[in-house]
Amino acid sequence: MRSIVYTRFGDSSVLELVDRPVPEPGPGEVRVRIVASGVNPTDWKARSGGTYGTSMPFPEITPNQDGSGVIDAVGAGVDRLRVGDRVWTYMSASGRPTGTAQEYTVLPAERVVPLAADASFELGASLGVPAMTAHRALTVHEFGPRRLAPGALDGNTVLVAGGAGAVGHAAIQLAVWSGATVITTISSDDKAALAQRAGAQHTVNYRQDDAAKQIRAIAPNGVDIVVEVAIAQNSALNSAVLANHGVVAMYANNGGDQASIDIRPNMSINARYQFLLLYTIGQAALDAAAADVSAAVRDGALPVGAEHGLPIVRFPLEETNRAHDAVASDTVGKVIIDVQSA
Ligand SMILES: NC(=O)c1ccc[n+]([C@@H]2O[C@H](COP(=O)([O-])OP(=O)(O)OC[C@H]3O[C@@H](n4cnc5c(N)ncnc54)[C@H](OP(=O)(O)O)[C@@H]3O)[C@@H](O)[C@H]2O)c1
Repeated sequence: MRSIVYTRFGDSSVLELVDRPVPEPGPGEVRVRIVASGVNPTDWKARSGGTYGTSMPFPEITPNQDGSGVIDAVGAGVDRLRVGDRVWTYMSASGRPTGTAQEYTVLPAERVVPLAADASFELGASLGVPAMTAHRALTVHEFGPRRLAPGALDGNTVLVAGGAGAVGHAAIQLAVWSGATVITTISSDDKAALAQRAGAQHTVNYRQDDAAKQIRAIAPNGVDIVVEVAIAQNSALNSAVLANHGVVAMYANNGGDQASIDIRPNMSINARYQFLLLYTIGQAALDAAAADVSAAVRDGALPVGAEHGLPIVRFPLEETNRAHDAVASDTVGKVIIDVQSA
């Protein structure tokens, strides 16, 4: 089979197209014939050495955590999934050397989730990292729901930082599906248009001096949940707009590795600051996210594509290096690798 691998950390030139044997699933595993591989910042960061430390955890790694395809072999002890099932995958290359940038990959069954019959493979490959991260961020409020569903966030106001980003896009869609009022921050009119197409009711340019005032005008009682991509830059803004018992769910360090938080205003409102990393949130939270994201897909609530606020940028498998570079250079939208036809 055609497989993309790297044997040392480095820029995207370390990625090579090679021929490898089709792997066999062991007990508790399934083999997925990959149709689409989704690229996220985590994939190029791992390849460049930013995740694993100084030495490769495996002699050879196939990149990319997210993917979609069709199950074509099932290992012993797996009864939830069957050959022929359309599926999406998450954390495919976490603790394992074999991600989705190849024609077949073997995965633990719990990281493989049925994909609704009318959902495209490009949508399936867009769910793992972005939508599951967004799900976690929306379910860590002290008094909020741990599961998302229509009505789960009724009466809540959610502020999504960076609504034109991949995680931001999914956060808007899941919050709207769950009944929240969604405000999102963006840096340009073009990105505001994307966030509105994702379903955000309100957009505010975070580069404007009066961003906090604009958000307060929309949400006089404050926002309950902030889905935060850049806490170093947005700490003061969050303090100014958070509701009593509000939570800032922080999933990234865009804009700086260190943040300072004003104690007094945050103490006054019992604010919570919640970090999250998908790889370590635990299987219970992953299972909840996979189930709720799948329900949202079945409801048609997580569409991708330019008309829905997330343009798709496609590359063939042999150009996985260009796909990684596109994500690393902040391409707007979702980068998808077409691995093989459905
Ligand atoms: N913790 C986790 O488990 C986890 C999971 C997924 C992703 N991540 C991390 O999250 C980050 C984003 O991932 P992604 O796939 O969504 O990337 P993306 O598609 O490139 O989106 C990043 C977004 O952040 C926005 N942004 C940057 N600074 C901002 C600020 N100060 N205020 C508001 N928005 C701001 C950008 O908008 P502008 O360019 O307009 O500012 C852009 O829309 C990456 O660093 C990734 O590694 C972490």
